[in-house]
Amino acid sequence: MKTDQKHSVEEKATSGELAIEGGKPIRTAPLPLEFPGIHYFGEEEIQAAVQLLKRRSLFRYYGVDLQKEVEKIEAEFAKFLGISHAVAVTSGTGALNTALSALSVGPGQEVIVPAYMWVSVVAAVVSHGAIPVLADINDTFCMDPMKLEKAVTPKTAGIIVVHMSGAPADIKAIRRVAGERRLWLLEDCAQCCGGSVDGQKVGTFGDMATFSFQMNKNMTSGEGGCVVTNDFRLYRRAFAAHDLGYARDESGRLIFDDPDLSLWGQGYRLDELRAAILRVQLTKLPRIIEHMRRSKYRIRHELEKFPQVRLRKIVDPEGDTGCFLITTYPDAETAQRVNKALRAEGIVTSPQGTSNIVMTDWGLHVYSNIASLVGKTSVDGRGFPWKLPENAGLARDYGKGACPVADSLFERSIILAIPSCLTESDEGDIVRAFDKVLDSLPAR
Ligand SMILES: Cc1ncc(COP(=O)(O)O)c(C=O)c1O
Repeated sequence: MKTDQKHSVEEKATSGELAIEGGKPIRTAPLPLEFPGIHYFGEEEIQAAVQLLKRRSLFRYYGVDLQKEVEKIEAEFAKFLGISHAVAVTSGTGALNTALSALSVGPGQEVIVPAYMWVSVVAAVVSHGAIPVLADINDTFCMDPMKLEKAVTPKTAGIIVVHMSGAPADIKAIRRVAGERRLWLLEDCAQCCGGSVDGQKVGTFGDMATFSFQMNKNMTSGEGGCVVTNDFRLYRRAFAAHDLGYARDESGRLIFDDPDLSLWGQGYRLDELRAAILRVQLTKLPRIIEHMRRSKYRIRHELEKFPQVRLRKIVDPEGDTGCFLITTYPDAETAQRVNKALRAEGIVTSPQGTSNIVMTDWGLHVYSNIASLVGKTSVDGRGFPWKLPENAGLARDYGKGACPVADSLFERSIILAIPSCLTESDEGDIVRAFDKVLDSLPAR
């Protein structure tokens, strides 16, 4: 390298020139992938799985040497949350379907869902023959209680609130609306397992709650989920729905003579192997959350000094599980520019990860990206449930523009995953990259 060339490289490294403009990036190694529970996966999970396999009893009801792992995780998870009943299921989507069956959802009903969620939420409503109604979000990135209030109609049966991106919704205000309007309230806690508001765990505020233990969740067995409730009747109906359609008595016998407990089973039973793994993960959950929270709040604290960026409103920072950081910018162009510049500085994971993106690209979390919702598609090809006579006039327009606050927040915000294994050095790199990129923005 010629001397003048060498000088110019060194100058770029020290001058703070952005990597996107040819400067030296803050880091070259990719950030760790997200997957909170997996980073804490270790010998304990392996041993739990091996021991279970050695017993050759993989089914919850019987086996050569039945371990009752599913029953145990149900009891332990309920105790962890501080709730009476839990039904372990095979996924968060299965949990939503199970809960909606328990809540008697069907045609002629509207169910209010937030504009920021996951496709499974609307899928469960539509699969039950009901009509989803979007409520816009606010700067908590969760359902806005005021918009919720406005979305209620005489056809509204209930509300699905979703605690998004690791942090709880304004659940007390939302519960107040549900109570005043006599609507059931279902909390989807898939993205906020272990979160809380004023010391009370999410999942214990509504009539029912659902969890996912899919691979990218705070605790995981790869796939899995859970439905919880304090209501014994709803518990028995959920148990029936997740299994064969019938509830079971204390001794496990199916109950055939109670019409209220005769549903149609959906086959979402959890297996013993995943339950054994989840029991170990549950013991680690507080440490996993603590790690992510510590990393996130160290970064958040540093970002507070920048007027160019607004941080997501957190309802209760003590109850934030910390798995995502959301930053918002004055306009879409700035968000795009900051995102590209941060990625060039090395604030990005390997191609598998979705660590650092503008939220319009956040796939099926964004209502207007859900093509089957926007297009009101049907499984039967005859318009179910949109064209059912009971649903006449209930379907809305779900395309972009339906929820303007969400639209604006999505295009102006960047979501950054906070893995549960960030080191102080990783955190430092993230802070320095933000520092460098935000400093380069023109003064407003
Ligand atoms: C908010 C929310 N609800 C439900 C689900 C569905 O969970 P699963 O993937 O276990 O079916 C997810 C999964 O990502 C989710 O994020």
